[in-house]
Amino acid sequence: REPVRSICCIGAGYVGGPTCAVIACQNPKIQVTVVDLDQARIDAWKSDHLPIFEPGLRDVVQFARDEQYSGHETRPPNLFFSTDIDSAIVSADLIFIAVNTPTKLVGQGAGSASDLAYVEAAARRIAEVSTSDKIVAQKSTVPCGTAHTLRHIFASVAQNSDVNFEILSNPEFLAEGTAIRDLLSPDRILIGSNTDRRALQAAERLADVYAAWVPRERILTVNCWSSELSKLAANCMLAQRISSINSLSAICEVTGADVDEVAQAVGQDTRIGSKMLKASAGFGGSCFKKDVLCLVYIAESYNLHEVALYWRRIVDINEYSKARFAKWIIQSLHNTLDRKKIAILGWAYKKDTGDTRESAAINVAGQLIAENAHVAVYDPEVRPDQIISDLTQHHNTDALAKKVSIHKNPYSACEGASAVVILTEWDEFKTDGLPSAVANVLDKEVLEVPLVSVPRRTSEDSRGSSERSWVRDDYSRDERSAENLAESPVFEPKTIPLRLCKK
Ligand code: NAI
Repeated sequence: REPVRSICCIGAGYVGGPTCAVIACQNPKIQVTVVDLDQARIDAWKSDHLPIFEPGLRDVVQFARDEQYSGHETRPPNLFFSTDIDSAIVSADLIFIAVNTPTKLVGQGAGSASDLAYVEAAARRIAEVSTSDKIVAQKSTVPCGTAHTLRHIFASVAQNSDVNFEILSNPEFLAEGTAIRDLLSPDRILIGSNTDRRALQAAERLADVYAAWVPRERILTVNCWSSELSKLAANCMLAQRISSINSLSAICEVTGADVDEVAQAVGQDTRIGSKMLKASAGFGGSCFKKDVLCLVYIAESYNLHEVALYWRRIVDINEYSKARFAKWIIQSLHNTLDRKKIAILGWAYKKDTGDTRESAAINVAGQLIAENAHVAVYDPEVRPDQIISDLTQHHNTDALAKKVSIHKNPYSACEGASAVVILTEWDEFKTDGLPSAVANVLDKEVLEVPLVSVPRRTSEDSRGSSERSWVRDDYSRDERSAENLAESPVFEPKTIPLRLCKK
């Protein structure tokens, strides 16, 4: 069969960019062009400041995008980024659709159904401008039946009836933060197709692209419905584990059980396994919530109300977890945050990504701000304008500027804070660097837990008042030393037994 020579990927986001960079690296003979409507994003992909942070991504992109010299040989670049969508479509044999599929905000299914407007727009463009046969591999996460719908769109829009479109489903299973590792060593590649000869041949041609580095036994070919549902099912079951352990952490807190001990004991059961069993403030990211809701909508559309209700509770428990986390902070600071500074370390929805979509930090910070706290945020990879945009999109912006400060380092964020809340499990919050530097305000041991209420005495305490309180605004630097916090009974740190780890 004809090998694929030219690939176009529509959508230069978290999926399209890294996936195509790896495909280009592993297939030097294939020309790979990633296109997007967003000029700024494409410019960033062409520069040294890639639009997304992902460990290992820069090396892979530079390897395939820039000419490489070794001795007398050169490796010409085969990875390109462009906003010239039409030209890339015309010259491609294989086109990936990797555009966003957010939850619909208005109309039928608003709040749970996936918005397929971007997928449809991309498909229509392919149908309109193509002048030769194409394999169209649908990579975005979509409801079951989307490949079927796309076939109708291609049949009705295609100008040139001689052009054949083979529609495949090829969902992406990478996780942000480990995208390059996941792409280089995937658990499986899933390809869904029809069962006629042409469709199976198209699936084989796509399989050949992956076979350049993925063992054949890991490339699964199935029907389109199974492929589409498998992607949703995988995310739903992962989200379900996080909601399960978070609901158990609530029971741990009222019974005295330790959620980490429970997670370890349960996770060592090989039938269950240890992954995704870290209790947290709630899962975030662009996928879990929207994909669970998409499954809920599919179940509802087929009148499977109990099934829909079951999966909806996974999302409900996640919202409850975020609310419960904020409540803990408020309660541990005597039910008032008025004029208290709360440091938030970590804004991304998990470590090793700058992505903040659906991050629990946005929700928790909003609840603290509503209590009149001043929130001081530090994240190593998230840009300040992104933090502001997240807050203004999700919360009332009144006087936001006075209630939020964004810091370039964790030390100034923690300076004088009544509590430090670690909401992303960045390694720098776990290793020696931060604890020793932040020891001025925190006890090292306490830093190992994600949410730390730093106890501080009131001025009454320092005057010898019998009424003990944790809050004081005029403590000196010395008093903030780790030793003082650890030794003085008044400064006994109050920790909250929640642990952080998301998708
Ligand atoms: P993203 O929002 O980062 O990127 C999508 C890109 O598509 C945007 O840059 C947008 O400008 C572009 N786009 C939209 N319509 C277009 C059009 N008609 N022509 C050209 N460009 C267009 O989204 P992300 O995170 O890459 O996700 C893409 C899909 O992959 C979604 O369906 C998502 O659920 C799925 N997915 C995401 C994963 C993740 O970790 N982010 C993992 C696995 C799947």
